[in-house]
Amino acid sequence: MLLSYTFAAVAALAAKASATIFYAGVAESSGEFGAWSPTATQGTGLPGVFGRDYAFIDKAAVDVFVNTNKINLFRVAFLLERMCPLSTGLGATFDETHFRHFAEAVDYITKTKGAYCILDPHNYMRYNNPSQQPMTGSVIGNSSDPTAATTAQFGAFWGELAKRFKDNEKVIFGIMNEPHDMETNLVLANNQAAVDGIRASGAKQMILAPGNSWSGGHSFTQSWAGYSPSSADALVKLKDPLSNTAIDIHEYLDTDYSGSHTVCAQPGPENLADVTAWLKANKLKAMITEFGASNSTQCQPYLEGILKYMADNEEYIGWTAWAAGPFWGPNSACCTDSQQWGSLEPGSKTASGGPGMYESVWMKTIQKFVPKKLVWKGVSSVEGGMLSVKRA
Ligand SMILES: *[C@@H]1O[C@H](CO)[C@@H](O)[C@H](O)[C@H]1NC(C)=O
Ligand SMILES: *[C@@H]1O[C@H](CO)[C@@H](O)[C@H](O)[C@H]1NC(C)=O
Repeated sequence: MLLSYTFAAVAALAAKASATIFYAGVAESSGEFGAWSPTATQGTGLPGVFGRDYAFIDKAAVDVFVNTNKINLFRVAFLLERMCPLSTGLGATFDETHFRHFAEAVDYITKTKGAYCILDPHNYMRYNNPSQQPMTGSVIGNSSDPTAATTAQFGAFWGELAKRFKDNEKVIFGIMNEPHDMETNLVLANNQAAVDGIRASGAKQMILAPGNSWSGGHSFTQSWAGYSPSSADALVKLKDPLSNTAIDIHEYLDTDYSGSHTVCAQPGPENLADVTAWLKANKLKAMITEFGASNSTQCQPYLEGILKYMADNEEYIGWTAWAAGPFWGPNSACCTDSQQWGSLEPGSKTASGGPGMYESVWMKTIQKFVPKKLVWKGVSSVEGGMLSVKRA
């Protein structure tokens, strides 16, 4: 009796220390659509018409993901230039019509469906010209550029957004999608302004902080000319008084880590080993909020490899695959060399009407890595939370 009691205690301890995915789901991409200009004309598609130029979610698709696929996490993209119009600039003044549409999507995911939601300003740490994202727009905080929004304005923006969601425990603040081609110390300064603004608003939920270089996990600990210090050496200095900030990582599996190619060539486990060691050494957690692969047989072990790696390593607490979203149609969000093989949106079809990547990638490969038990209650946290099976 005593022996088995001890065994049970040891087993409980081991279970607590073991790796757990608390949050699993999908990126919802379409809120950032409709601003492209072939001539990079500033202002194209702004503010844009909701439901025609862009949209955040399709509620029926979210229903399928929660009810059938049992996921508890969505990452919803939006454009800073729509939330904070160029006329008033980046900061605490919002376009209230745009905000209402965004809040309706967030509320549907979190309140109606009970899932968690990452707020994703899809802006590459740039503001004022999304017409040829990811390359156009002034880098936020670039003091040599008189047209650039300042780091303080970015902090004010986050303070306002967090204030509006501070009573919604299911929200997660994703500071920025994929900063790139800028000083890593400026990524840190902007991240710190965001964290400070969010905490000053009284919001206690989890924050996701990106590194430089497109949030790449494989290069997180590396530095080179024009990219120094490394994201690791910079972000180790980020301070959150509530210690509820995780690192936001993107990791694609094709040759150049771009997520644009059909063929997989970069193994997640090997490429993430250094950032995982850094996370462990600094007692930090991470989420991989973008990853993906084509439906090819060749890619399947790579996709399984990164999903298993996250499940096996306690530094990883969650993930969102790239991407679903109401406006993809037959186009593919990643990994097909621009072929129209559909997206992760439920019901998605290829250009020729065959099953899209929801069937050929999500159902075939990703679904089995969605844990039976996830977190359905409580403030979003790097510590995770109570695990349970989602009730219908
Ligand atoms: C900052 O602004 C200056 C002046 O416009 C520009 O030359 C430089 O490339 C900008 N830096 C970044 C990282 O974009
Ligand atoms: C992936 O999807 C495309 C488009 O439907 C199809 O042509 C191809 O055969 C699929 N690949 C596999 C391995 O199923």
